This record gives sequence, structure tokens and C-alpha cells, in this order.
Amino acid sequence: MAASDVTSDVTAQSAATPFSTLIRTASKEQHEEAETSAFMSHLLGGRLGVDAYRRYTEQLWFVYDAMESAADGLRADPVAGPFIDPGLFRLPSLRRDLDHLHGGTDWRTRVRPLPATGAYAARIAELARDWPGGYVAHHYTRYLGDLSGGQIIRGKAEQTWGFARKGDGVRFYVFEEIGNPAAFKRAYRERLDALPLDDLEKQRVVDECKRAFALNTAVFRELGEEFPASA
Ligand code: HEM
Repeated sequence: MAASDVTSDVTAQSAATPFSTLIRTASKEQHEEAETSAFMSHLLGGRLGVDAYRRYTEQLWFVYDAMESAADGLRADPVAGPFIDPGLFRLPSLRRDLDHLHGGTDWRTRVRPLPATGAYAARIAELARDWPGGYVAHHYTRYLGDLSGGQIIRGKAEQTWGFARKGDGVRFYVFEEIGNPAAFKRAYRERLDALPLDDLEKQRVVDECKRAFALNTAVFRELGEEFPASA
């Protein structure tokens, strides 16, 4: 299709629209889809056992392993570099949560990703190698989401399965090094707005963000098949 045939999210909005607004608006529908997936609804409705939560947390481990093992190599990149922030890293917390959820460390050699998770992690690894703008789309989709809706999931998990408040089992959702999440999100949006990208590249990043949401929804779909609601 010729570029002129496409009414893109970028050209449909005023040129003055900040990129952070653009990416949020353009992914709104996908956000709702992920949020209202059967698996998420059942998880938040307290209708799943801790085994489902454990399996979900395992999937996050693979996603963040792909995201954060690539981080060092992107630190000097002009596009992705400003987003690399060890204060965000989730892998150490995920490791502690999974040690707790499994009652030991043997999961580290046993655990396997769902097919959808494998595809999601592979996409992140590919982008980290080939396209820093695409990596930023995934970075945004994960970390800003975890800082926002993640807090709702944490509260529900503590309530449903009795984890200590902000303790083992839900440390993934606790950003110890981010003192003020609202201020952090504001600064993050400023970094998005300062990205040195032309309109075509902005549209590509927005499209990749939509793909990131779709990859998450696919993981929820597979988790939903493995764990239908029990009550
Ligand atoms: C039940 C699950 C979820 C709930 C309850 C939820 C809820 C929320 C809430 C309340 C916000 C804050 C909106 C604002 O500040 O204006 C938010 C933002 C966000 N969420 Fe979710 N969310 C969920 C799932 C997800 C998933 C699965 C993803 C993607 C992996 C995601 C990605 C995001 C992103 C990227 C933002 C930041 C939007 C922005 O300010 O630019 N969320 N979410």
C-alpha cells in the first residue's frame, strides 16, 4: 500500500500533538482489550488459583529477561539509550517472587515459556539488535504499564493469595527506586516527546506499540486456555 493511502495515527493528529499523547491514544483500544481479556478479568476477580498467578509471573520472567539482558548494549544508543534505567529493572524482583512462588530456586532450570511468550521475547530480542525505536515501543508498553495498572494487580494479588504487602510474590510490582511514580511517568513522557524521530518513524514506533499489546494479549489467551476460571 502506498504511504499516501494510509491515514496514520501520526498524520491524523495535529503535528503539535506530543508523541507521548499519540502513542497513548493510538494504543487505547489494545489496552482495553488486554485489560479485559478473560485471564486478566478472572485474575483480578479472584477467580484463579495461585498456580495461574505463578505461571503468569513465569511469563513475565522471559519477557523481562529479553528486555533487560539487551539493556547494556543499548545504553549508548541515541534513541533507546535515554530509556535505559537500572532503577526500573524487574528481573531481580521477578527472581525473588518466583523463588517464593515455587518455594525454592529449582524453577530456574525447569521453567519454560508458553509459545506466545517465546514469540514475544524473541521479538524484543530482535528489536534490541536491529531497531532501537521498536525496542522503545516495548519498553514503554511494559514499564509504564507496570507502573500504572500493575499497582491494581499487586493489590488484588495480595488480597487474593495473601502475599505480604509489597513483599515476596508481588515484588515485581514494587519499584523501590522510583520514589514518585507520577513524577517518573511525567519525565518518561518528556523523554518520549524528545525522541529524535520523523513522522514516518513515529508511526512505525506506534505500530510496534500496538504489536506489543497484541503480543501481551496472545500470552493472556494462552494462559486463559491453561487456566479457565474455577469459580
Ligand atoms: C488488568 C490489567 C490492567 C489494568 C487494570 C490497567 C490499568 C491501567 C491504568 C489505570 C493506567 C493509567 C492510565 C493513566 O495514567 O492515564 C494504565 C496505563 C498503562 N497501561 Fe495498563 N492496565 C492493565 C493492563 C495493561 C497491560 C497488559 C499493558 C501492556 C502490557 C498495559 C500497558 C499500559 C501502558 C503502556 C500504560 C501507560 C499509558 C500512558 O500513560 O501512556 N496495561 N493502565
